[in-house]
Amino acid sequence: MTNEKLDLASPDLVNENFEKLAQLFPNCVTESTDGKAIDFDLLKQELSHAVVEGTKERYRLEWPGKREAIVTANLPTTKTLRPVREDSVDFDNTENLYIEGDNLEVLKLLQESYLGKIKMIYIDPPYNTGKDFVYKDNFTQDSEEYKEESGLKDEYNQRLQANPDTSGRYHSDWLSMMYPRLKLARNLLTDDGVIFISIDDNEVHNLRKICDEIFGEICFVSNAIWRSKDNSNNDAKGFSTDHNHTLVYSKNQNWQPALIKDESKQKHFKNPDNDPRGPYFDGNPLNSPNYRENLIYNIKSENGTIIEPPKNGWRWSKKVMQEKISTGEIRFTADQKNIRRRTYLQDMKGLPPSSLMIDLDKTGHNRQAKYELLKLMPEDVFDTPKPIKLIKYLMNLGNIGEGDIVLDFFSGSATSAHAVIDANSEDNNKRKFIQIQLPENTDEKTDAYKKGYKNITDIGKERIRRASKNIKEETSADIDYGFRVYRLDDSNMQDVYYKPQEYSQENLELFSDNIKPDRTADDLVAQVMLDWGLPLSLKIEQALISGKKVFKVSENSLFACFDNGIDEAFAKEIAKEAPLRIVFKDSGFKDDTAKTNVKQLLKQLSPETEMKVI
Ligand SMILES: C[S@@+](CC[C@H](N)C(=O)[O-])C[C@H]1O[C@@H](n2cnc3c(N)ncnc32)[C@H](O)[C@@H]1O
Repeated sequence: MTNEKLDLASPDLVNENFEKLAQLFPNCVTESTDGKAIDFDLLKQELSHAVVEGTKERYRLEWPGKREAIVTANLPTTKTLRPVREDSVDFDNTENLYIEGDNLEVLKLLQESYLGKIKMIYIDPPYNTGKDFVYKDNFTQDSEEYKEESGLKDEYNQRLQANPDTSGRYHSDWLSMMYPRLKLARNLLTDDGVIFISIDDNEVHNLRKICDEIFGEICFVSNAIWRSKDNSNNDAKGFSTDHNHTLVYSKNQNWQPALIKDESKQKHFKNPDNDPRGPYFDGNPLNSPNYRENLIYNIKSENGTIIEPPKNGWRWSKKVMQEKISTGEIRFTADQKNIRRRTYLQDMKGLPPSSLMIDLDKTGHNRQAKYELLKLMPEDVFDTPKPIKLIKYLMNLGNIGEGDIVLDFFSGSATSAHAVIDANSEDNNKRKFIQIQLPENTDEKTDAYKKGYKNITDIGKERIRRASKNIKEETSADIDYGFRVYRLDDSNMQDVYYKPQEYSQENLELFSDNIKPDRTADDLVAQVMLDWGLPLSLKIEQALISGKKVFKVSENSLFACFDNGIDEAFAKEIAKEAPLRIVFKDSGFKDDTAKTNVKQLLKQLSPETEMKVI
């Protein structure tokens, strides 16, 4: 037994501090003349709400607007998510989410509830082809001001701006859009989480650079090539580009993709002599890569024939070779002149996935995707869907199984939601999806618009409804076919900065109640869940307690009551159910004394309960 030696040197604190900072801010790690270094300008930027100027040369991708993009990611949002029951399917029981709104704001709102909870992110953002619309964030103006200034009603569609390759800010605008979103998305990944990003040649090089910054170069897993076309373009100028890139980054550096069971390779496994361990393959053991003395030795076969070693020697030492011969792993060929190594099909765990995803049967192609969607929605509503097979293949690589959440924040026609339901119907696993999609208007000239799909969320939601219905009919699988719809909207709370001319008698009344008059208790429950960091998919039930309406979220995880007249008697009743959290309206108490007493009573009778007011 060897004793472990005490390390008498004190730890290298500089290195430790460096590692800690790198862990928190991987994007601030750079290269200097002395090796790896922290980019202090960028770190300053991470700690500031205003743009910090810096001048030093450094190794990293720069573009005008990058600093604003960092500020944008770190700025808090005042928006909220409001449930839309009428568009949802099985709202009360489903754990799937479909969220309408700009993904930047939505990702911010999900930061607490889904921090470290998403196992896989798949995104297929606009590729910046020169014909794409790119969403313009505006980090200096808040949305109310923006609307007022430009007289805009439909803020989303106004912010979505054409980005032709002739624009002087062609790459910069796209990068400024992607950077804060990826940064926020990374926070949501689980420790064993992974992100797959589809992209083409227009931005793959830039995307890879910002992902190296955001996820850390060591978390780069692959740039896997996906064959997107089943036939080449004979009229192409130069190359016919038949592929997309799939950038793969993991949250942590030791992530591994699942091994792939490749049936085509299984054909080699046969069992002509009824080996009790089943089909096998007798392979020729290769040379050792390095010449080593103990690998150079002769072997004697069963009938005494001497078999000489290959040039660099065998792969194993003499002892190991003998063991393998005795277990039957190594056998002699019929002529006794060589050896074979037997591998059994039952021991094969699979092979590492190839960085070429070119088998159309396994990972689909664009034309197939279009056909899949047309079959469901013959109205021809969406031009650039991805095939279900591709997403299912990626879910397999990411080991996405029971209870795992798949997030797609550029949802489009909701292919990834379709893929999740499809995969669940095959193995009964409870994978869940979160889709985020901007209510981007469809063009009035398109079939989609004429058929009533006024924006892309109408298309996505309808696709999930139809896909679910078909899968249910075909498979009768007992799985979650529903989804809860939430819509991004301005805060539920009254704006604090009402202008004097906007005061009216009616408004004055509202000031006593700081909640906007068009907001419902359902809206407030969603906001409280987000604020308290509870997942939006938790079950919400309603009950009457002492004549007041109480929302119970995930049994006793959270109680919410926004009725008026909250008093001591009510507090005593509530305390019997020992909720972990409870929330009231600030103005909901019978009077000031009741407010103090309710808090005291809950503390005494149900000490576990944390009480808040909004
Ligand atoms: C290439 S499509 C995704 C297609 C999708 N993978 C499918 O299979 O249907 C990109 C989508 O991102 C949406 N999008 C663009 N900017 C967005 C933003 N800021 N927030 C949310 N969605 C956005 C666009 O409306 C478009 O539907």
